Amino acid sequence: MAAAEKQPITGAGAFNGILTWVDARFPLMALWREHLSEYYAPKNFNFWYYFGSLALLVLVIQIVTGIVLAMNYKPDASLAFASVEYIMREVPWGWLMRYLHSTGASAFFICIYLHMFRALLYGSHRKPRELLWIVGMLIFLALMGEAFFGYLLPWGQMSYWGAQVIVNLFAAIPFVGPDLALWIRGDYVVSDATLNRFFSFHVIALPLVLLGLVVVHLLALHEVGSNNPDGIEIKKRTDPKTGIPLDGIPFHPYYTVKDIFGVMVFLLVFAIIVFFAPELGGYFLEHNNFIAADPLRTPPHIAPVWYFTPYYSVLRANTINFFWVDAKVWGVIAMGISVMIFFFLPWLDRSPAKSIRYRGPLYKGALALFVASFLILGYLGTQTVTETRTLLAQVCTVIYFLFFLLMPWYSTIDKCKPEPDRVTH
Ligand code: HEM
Repeated sequence: MAAAEKQPITGAGAFNGILTWVDARFPLMALWREHLSEYYAPKNFNFWYYFGSLALLVLVIQIVTGIVLAMNYKPDASLAFASVEYIMREVPWGWLMRYLHSTGASAFFICIYLHMFRALLYGSHRKPRELLWIVGMLIFLALMGEAFFGYLLPWGQMSYWGAQVIVNLFAAIPFVGPDLALWIRGDYVVSDATLNRFFSFHVIALPLVLLGLVVVHLLALHEVGSNNPDGIEIKKRTDPKTGIPLDGIPFHPYYTVKDIFGVMVFLLVFAIIVFFAPELGGYFLEHNNFIAADPLRTPPHIAPVWYFTPYYSVLRANTINFFWVDAKVWGVIAMGISVMIFFFLPWLDRSPAKSIRYRGPLYKGALALFVASFLILGYLGTQTVTETRTLLAQVCTVIYFLFFLLMPWYSTIDKCKPEPDRVTH
């Protein structure tokens, strides 16, 4: 940070003395000003703007509880399940650490899905925030990997067979598939070798990647500035004297206080789930996972945890062999594309208005259909397959993809309302 940016720390006392000493050696106050007290955020943030800071909070909860769990967990196929039972019954507060961590995993995905949905509402992925969106998508992929690797660790029936099913999907890839699956597992079936490497990815590799990406995400956000529910750029109208956006307010104290309120409400709901319904009817902790992994007994119904089920449904919806290629391979391809297609949103969306407030009926209708199909796919993914359910999953999969593929067309011809010059309340 340039010396010219340094401003004297006013006030007296030992604390300010220490602060001045540190600030002479590290750009502490410059960082504080740049990212908090002089970061001007639009003054019209609403409910949907809570989930970024909440995702950050859940990340911290996961890291702290994860460290404590790792102190007592054994990444060994013959000890893993029993070590989790030991954490639940013998380790002081171990049950709490585990329930905070397992509930935290679902809470993370709830926050992230709502955080991403906010972008679809207000066009936060659009220019100039494309890179911010791409980094967000990388975070999403890392988070999916983190959840997948973590789920094997309790070594229950669902951990084991879930991993078996997902790794076997890679085996469907033509030519390299079987070798790839073998390479991922480190064995011919999911085994101790698989558990060891998944543990290593879950506790160190992916958390490092996630933390690094979150820092880049926030730097990219602060470079371009926050979007807002009106989808207009506040940097376009600034005070001629100070250069401060007319519709901007300092992040600290205004939004730190708002976010603390969000944190309190979140913690209340989170605590109710942790203390009264940590399994949440089998959605947060699957019942079959309280049975130790048995490689000789396949459970009759294998389903991933709720946050993966929309994509799992897309996978299962493919039942036709096309061009001499197996339906399973098409399923894997469709599932991969159903996640990766989000990367392209900033370029698929051509609407003159960013926010849903000023967009026309076509985008509103398309978004409503997309959300409905995503939720229905999610539900179907938790259920066993029947003919009717497969048909419904196929219809929803088509709607899911059409939302993206037709976007360049319907977002261009949509009848948008004129955007205001200044943010509204
Ligand atoms: C660990 C995960 C994540 C954390 C901690 C995080 C954190 C944040 C924070 C603190 C903000 C500013 C406050 C807010 O807008 O709510 C933000 C903004 C944003 N994030 Fe994330 N984020 C995460 C994941 C994602 C993902 C997965 C995406 C999209 C794929 C994404 C896309 C965005 C966008 C587009 C904005 C700007 C929103 C706007 O200004 O309207 N983020 N993020």
